[in-house]
Amino acid sequence: MAEAGKTRFQINLRHFLRERDVDRNLTRVICEIADASKYIVNSIRTGDLGVAGTSNLYGEEQLALDVLSDRILRKRLAHSGVVANIVSEEQPEIVPLSPDCEGKFSVAYDPLDGSSLVDVNLAVGTIVSIYAGCDLLQPGCNQAAAMYILYGPRTTLVLSTGDGVHEFNMNQLMEYTLTRENIQVGASGSIYSPGGQRNKYTAGVRSFVEQLEARGSKLRYSGGFVPDINQVLMKGKGIFFYPHLNDTPEGKLRVLFELNPMAFLMEQAGGAASNGKSRILDMVPDNIDMRAPVFIGSKDEVALAERCIAEQG
Ligand code: F6P
Ligand code: MN
Repeated sequence: MAEAGKTRFQINLRHFLRERDVDRNLTRVICEIADASKYIVNSIRTGDLGVAGTSNLYGEEQLALDVLSDRILRKRLAHSGVVANIVSEEQPEIVPLSPDCEGKFSVAYDPLDGSSLVDVNLAVGTIVSIYAGCDLLQPGCNQAAAMYILYGPRTTLVLSTGDGVHEFNMNQLMEYTLTRENIQVGASGSIYSPGGQRNKYTAGVRSFVEQLEARGSKLRYSGGFVPDINQVLMKGKGIFFYPHLNDTPEGKLRVLFELNPMAFLMEQAGGAASNGKSRILDMVPDNIDMRAPVFIGSKDEVALAERCIAEQG
């Protein structure tokens, strides 16, 4: 229900969550992250584009912006008083923020996914996965909420608390207001975003791509996971994949920080997410740095990928 005197699309994030009866502590976590993103967007616009001189758990060189975004989020989450544990793609281990779990939430995040695209001025994003309690090594289907913030020509926040997927835009006052409610992804679509080098694709993945191309699917790939997923969600169709490759059977993308939150959002929008054999959200992570191949988007295309892989690997 819209507040008196306001149209539905002037509702801000906090009011929206209150209206949907979202847990107060969870609302707090989400709003802290939304607040942190205002500082992150400012760093992206004006900050240092150089390297930090350090590398992350995956041996990737950290940029000053990665480290800064990580610090901004960590500070906000620590200050919230309702977060038990956090783990970041830019940190080597789980960081405890509170000794007790009761009523608290734990958060896994990729502070600035695609950060190497900032110097060429392409879109990047923050990806967040939230669990009730202390445990961060759970299957993604247990997420209490998932969200991302996309720093493109506009700054948008896309969120699900298990009750559909909703988009908010940052306005001139740097507040997030609702712009789309109950986003839906159709069963089939004509856009595909293929990650990884094609000459390393397995026979099954090659056959999948050939079938998409034969149907006239259009290639739409930016190299940033957040904008590429956002395109599928907002156009309401298509598929993104970063498959297993001949020399890297585990693919590239990380289950805790990248795949689980996006899979949760895609399923909430009526789409699907698979590692080529089974549902991403059913995978039990054995470690914070676990990776998996991913096929995510319209249900029919995800099923086609699974069939091609079952037949040809
Ligand atoms: O961290 C992951 C990421 O930068 C994603 O944003 C993107 O989808 C992928 O890696 C691109 O991978 P590659 O560098 O192999 O093209
Ligand atoms: Mn990333």
